[in-house]
Amino acid sequence: MVEAQAQPLVPTPCRIRRVLRETHDTFTLELDADPRPAFQPGQFAMLYVLGVGEVPMSYSGDPAAGRSIVHTTREVGPVTRAMARLRRGAVLGVRGPYGRPWPIAEAGGEDVVLVAGGIGLAPLRPAIHAIAARRGDFGRVVLLYGARSPADLLYRRDLDRWRTSTGIEVGVTVDRGTPTWAGNVGVVTGLIARAPFDPRRATALICGPEVMMRFAAEALRARGVPAARIWVSLERNMKCAVGLCGRCQLGPTFVCKDGPVFSYDRAERLLAVREL
Ligand SMILES: Cc1cc2nc3c(=O)[nH]c(=O)nc-3n(C[C@H](O)[C@H](O)[C@H](O)COP(=O)(O)OP(=O)(O)OC[C@H]3O[C@@H](n4cnc5c(N)ncnc54)[C@H](O)[C@@H]3O)c2cc1C
Ligand code: FES
Repeated sequence: MVEAQAQPLVPTPCRIRRVLRETHDTFTLELDADPRPAFQPGQFAMLYVLGVGEVPMSYSGDPAAGRSIVHTTREVGPVTRAMARLRRGAVLGVRGPYGRPWPIAEAGGEDVVLVAGGIGLAPLRPAIHAIAARRGDFGRVVLLYGARSPADLLYRRDLDRWRTSTGIEVGVTVDRGTPTWAGNVGVVTGLIARAPFDPRRATALICGPEVMMRFAAEALRARGVPAARIWVSLERNMKCAVGLCGRCQLGPTFVCKDGPVFSYDRAERLLAVREL
């Protein structure tokens, strides 16, 4: 279990060092943090836009690099839209890290399959960095990534680098192609049946819309990956992020504290419970 910081509910003011526009509705913020909180891939922070509100946001940068923390955000509502208007030098309140990480150490020696849909690549990116840094500790590593269209693809430079210089096999697909798109067209779950990994020794990490995670988990199960070796990251509205307020509660489970990363044998039941 990863402990939250000493004063878990008090945000630390962090200045924006850089803003990167990723796609028409998605952007990445690099925030100065000194000292930088030590986070593990799959964990999240609570980001507070002053006077607007606070939202959970996964870390999406390299857990081993630099003095900044990195978050990639899709604009969907009031807080994320206000965040999108912030420029270099503006201040955000930040608290965390929170939650349980992806089980990367446990996957040592095994094949790893990462399946990402849309903004779901952001919470998986720290895991890919960590795996690439210790590439020799794993068997085959496969990243399957689906976006709505070529213009919606995130982290294009990373995708090229992972493909060419880290020994990670990268499969990319889009729901709708364009005349200049020469790659796969179709849903990301369609890539699972032919992906090069051994299901008897594979760990799978999935992040994306819930329906996509369900179909991906079922396709992995159909290939023979046990549900206990398939991991998904759940999104539920959150307020405290430390298991106090009950906002993210599903029965006896607190998504903020017991998750957001769950094995699919546990998450399958949770995914059936709709947001309150
Ligand atoms: C643990 C965790 C990690 C997260 N990591 C990320 C991340 O790395 N990047 C990121 O962009 N988001 C991430 N999210 C989602 C993010 O917290 C929400 O998008 C945010 O809270 C929306 O706040 P808002 O005020 O802008 O919109 P709201 O008013 O809360 O929502 C506006 C509308 O968008 C819908 N909506 C909310 N969230 C989503 C979503 N994720 N996808 C599609 N529709 C949505 C709502 O149902 C509502 O209809 C994460 C959530 C959790 C729980
Ligand atoms: S967000 Fe408060 S209990 Fe999970």
